[in-house]
Amino acid sequence: MEQIELENLLKDMSLSEKIEQLVQLHGGFYGETDNYTGPVVDFHMTKEQPYRIGSILGEHGAQKLKDLQDRMMELQPHHIPALFMADVIHGYRTAFPAPIGIGSSFHPELAEKICEAVAREAAAAGVHVTFSPMVDLACDSRWGRCMESTGEDPWLNARFAESMVRGFQGDDYGKKGRVASCVKHFAAYGAVQSGRDYNVTELSERTLFEDYLVSYRAAVSAGVSMVMTAFNTINRIPCTTNKWLMRKVLREDMGFTGVLISDYGAVGESITHGSSEDLRDAAKKAMEAGCDIDMMSECYLHQLEGLVRAGELDESLVDEAVMRILALKNQLGLFENPYKDASTEDEEKVLFCEEHQELSRRAAEECIVLLKNEGVLPLTEDRKVVVVGSLADDREITGSWALFVKKEQTVTFKQAIKELYPGAHVEFILSDSLDEAGVDAVKNADRVILVLGENQSTTGESKSLADISLPREQRELFDRVYEENKNIVTVLFGGRPLAIPEVAEKSAALIEGWLPGSCGCYALADILFGRVNPSGKLSMSFPHCTGQLPISYRQFSTGRPKPPVDHYIPFVSNYMDVPNTPLYPFGYGLSYTVFEYSEVTLDKNSFSKGEKITASVVVKNAGRMDGMEAVQLYIRDMKGSVVRPLREFKGVEKIFLKKGEEREVRFDITEDMLRFYDINMDFVSEPGDFTLWIGDSSLTENGAKFRLLPQRQEQLQEV
Ligand code: GLC
Repeated sequence: MEQIELENLLKDMSLSEKIEQLVQLHGGFYGETDNYTGPVVDFHMTKEQPYRIGSILGEHGAQKLKDLQDRMMELQPHHIPALFMADVIHGYRTAFPAPIGIGSSFHPELAEKICEAVAREAAAAGVHVTFSPMVDLACDSRWGRCMESTGEDPWLNARFAESMVRGFQGDDYGKKGRVASCVKHFAAYGAVQSGRDYNVTELSERTLFEDYLVSYRAAVSAGVSMVMTAFNTINRIPCTTNKWLMRKVLREDMGFTGVLISDYGAVGESITHGSSEDLRDAAKKAMEAGCDIDMMSECYLHQLEGLVRAGELDESLVDEAVMRILALKNQLGLFENPYKDASTEDEEKVLFCEEHQELSRRAAEECIVLLKNEGVLPLTEDRKVVVVGSLADDREITGSWALFVKKEQTVTFKQAIKELYPGAHVEFILSDSLDEAGVDAVKNADRVILVLGENQSTTGESKSLADISLPREQRELFDRVYEENKNIVTVLFGGRPLAIPEVAEKSAALIEGWLPGSCGCYALADILFGRVNPSGKLSMSFPHCTGQLPISYRQFSTGRPKPPVDHYIPFVSNYMDVPNTPLYPFGYGLSYTVFEYSEVTLDKNSFSKGEKITASVVVKNAGRMDGMEAVQLYIRDMKGSVVRPLREFKGVEKIFLKKGEEREVRFDITEDMLRFYDINMDFVSEPGDFTLWIGDSSLTENGAKFRLLPQRQEQLQEV
């Protein structure tokens, strides 16, 4: 449709019809559904009213959605097609690794390929919009939704946000095999106090802008078509009714022009937050704040018309929201083809196709992180191996948002080993406790693979933990096995860093498998038996204990920094009982080979705005196995008008080196990389001294110093 046609359509719509476009309901209002993602409620609607609303949540399946679309358009007075939106976060029928794992690939280009495949499957199933990527910064693994985040670093999350939006949308999400992308949750949902889901946040404005908004800004710059509000408050105002956050920060500052949707019921929840009087007040506040779609609350549905007719809400606000929704439908081509890509034939061809299974496996290979290896990995097939733990036979390892997978298609750890290594001497004890026979098997084994951690039922939305230690039964199992055999390879599944200090200390090898997806256990088996060389790097720090949370490598000096010693020191910033540093830091991950880094060389030691410094290292694969390495760049601003982190991640290049091969890796340092929110909250760089490091984790000390010079007088005159 042309713009003028959309405008004429809007003019022709009644007020109640326009308001119905601003409502989203889940599939339960249309009969049987397999997908509830929030509380079930009754909105006292007429039988036909659900068929006149603008969008539906969580429904999927080509034929089902074609039939539903027919019904919607038949009953909608202007036959306006509905939008079908769903949480296809990291896979539709083929589940790719959970995003915390994708973040650990340190490979945004991989994420783009993953999201292209995810879009192809979702589009064939009739989905128009996906509620992904989730780009919330996560530094507190008490929060169950770390699983959906690409981790603790603003810069890396921003790169993944961009690549995932591109993967879903391509250059035009109206094209076949593409879906519109909705970034979430705006904003700073990952900062919920005490890691408790749906809680308030308490952030300085500087921390909000410096750390938490970076990834949303990147998604908006990448052209994301929708934004979803967060359940939490910012400045003690619920995000969904927060006019400053949505109209000033998102639309004015970031330039977002797309559709803004509430999270599930969040408009109405401004009442339970205690900042809206009732449904009418909540509807007014959310509309004035710029929330276009009310997902699963009855505020817009039952209150907006009265507000407009009473002159308490300007109808122009309704019109601008409806126009954004009509524009989204138009960009998707729904007025010409209301089914878009829904096709049972394509479902047959695309869903869980060989290509996607292969990509799911390859992706997991890059997401799995080797944290420790004291000479016991890789395994050889002649070794007597015992695999212990119920998770070794668990299919619930695709992630709590893998809503559309067929469970029977998920390969378990046991299946993968038996299928790929039929000749290996592997016995399975698929229990979290040992009987006498189990103890014997463990005692006589060369290696014990102990599979511990979480499956998807204990991680994800509303799955916060006050204690991130392993469950008691698993700790007791580990101790029992350790009594009999010291050659333990611990494999962790899960959606968050857990507190595993004793397991880490006593295991001879330790692997973080995250929630590896439909085919991820093939990757795990190939890594264990050495066919694949692990290359994952932690996207989130592993704390020693819950008490260290929230934790990130992006620490500050404080006025009393702890010197580099292991013991407690009075009157400096440290704990009496644990170190300040994490058990394993951001960016850390081992390989079966050895990557040697040369010293950093700079082509100059100072530069001004408009110029650049090129920093380079030579990386050599000095080991016996080909492998991939995420070469990482960190920068520190030695002094600022406000305190600055001890280091900030500013670049990564993931390279493949054959054994013996070496390559130069270069990073260009430009002035814009040094900008931050200064004492006046201006986003600027400040001249002065900087240090950069290039290495294999956030621990690297392979550094060099440089200086940013004040802008030259002539440059200032140019401005
Ligand atoms: C949920 C989640 C959000 C999801 C939405 C729709 O409560 O917070 O991430 O997209 O509801 O299912």
